[in-house]
Amino acid sequence: MVILITGTSKGLGRYLAEYYLKKTHTVIGCSLSANVIMHPSYHHTQLDLSNESNVRSWVNSVRKKFQTIDVLICNAAIVSSALFLTLTPGNLMESFLKTNVAGVFYILREVSKQMIKQKRGRIIAISSITTATHQEGTSVYSATKCAVNELIKILAKEVSSSNITCNVIAPGMMKTNASEELAKKLEWEKEMLQKQTIQRVILKEEVAHVSDFLISPRSSSITGQVIYLGLSN
Ligand SMILES: NC(=O)c1ccc[n+]([C@@H]2O[C@H](COP(=O)([O-])OP(=O)(O)OC[C@H]3O[C@@H](n4cnc5c(N)ncnc54)[C@H](OP(=O)(O)O)[C@@H]3O)[C@@H](O)[C@H]2O)c1
Repeated sequence: MVILITGTSKGLGRYLAEYYLKKTHTVIGCSLSANVIMHPSYHHTQLDLSNESNVRSWVNSVRKKFQTIDVLICNAAIVSSALFLTLTPGNLMESFLKTNVAGVFYILREVSKQMIKQKRGRIIAISSITTATHQEGTSVYSATKCAVNELIKILAKEVSSSNITCNVIAPGMMKTNASEELAKKLEWEKEMLQKQTIQRVILKEEVAHVSDFLISPRSSSITGQVIYLGLSN
């Protein structure tokens, strides 16, 4: 399969890219920074997803080179702030919106157009349990992830006739560079874990397991779902 994953330089995105490469798939990735994955079946582009024309030309070049995109995993996001709303500067809020909402929108739109032509595809977006836990200090981040959930739920309906499914994986706290940075700022890890039903960090392997489930041919009737990891709904 040809699997496009955003945000593959570190954290969950890098894990998923290497996971699917081990499974002998072709993986196409991107990040703001340069490539860190050296593998013959891995193809990296350094780009800013919040730039509409960059995203359009990236997806066009992927389409020309590989003819198909079987799976899209929208993983890239800014995960860095842990500020209360009253302390959040406007430009920080805008940068969250640009990457986590506009960036996701651009990639969803461009890849969906390709998948509609193919008449098949699987789309997964990575959101977060913070959309349901309403934790202090996550207002802007969670608002962007609520937007992602909504983009996916509505897109799921709009593309269902083309045999495309769209789902969200919303993990609890994971160990990544981003969460470790946050843990330094607040008692972040303890507070996050207290809000979870399963009070331990969520493993990247567990996200990959749900991703495998959603991209399986036998999951073709599962769409528009938000699957929480570590939280009861
Ligand atoms: N960590 C957690 O506890 C946790 C929990 C729940 C959900 N999540 C979600 O899981 C996903 C991955 O999080 P993570 O912890 O792995 O984050 P991370 O370690 O900070 O990695 C984020 C990735 O996204 C890329 N990226 C950010 N902005 C970009 C842009 N404008 N254009 C292109 N690439 C961009 C980064 O590239 P550069 O390195 O080049 O900047 C990096 O590869 C996110 O959607 C996050 O919201 C995380």
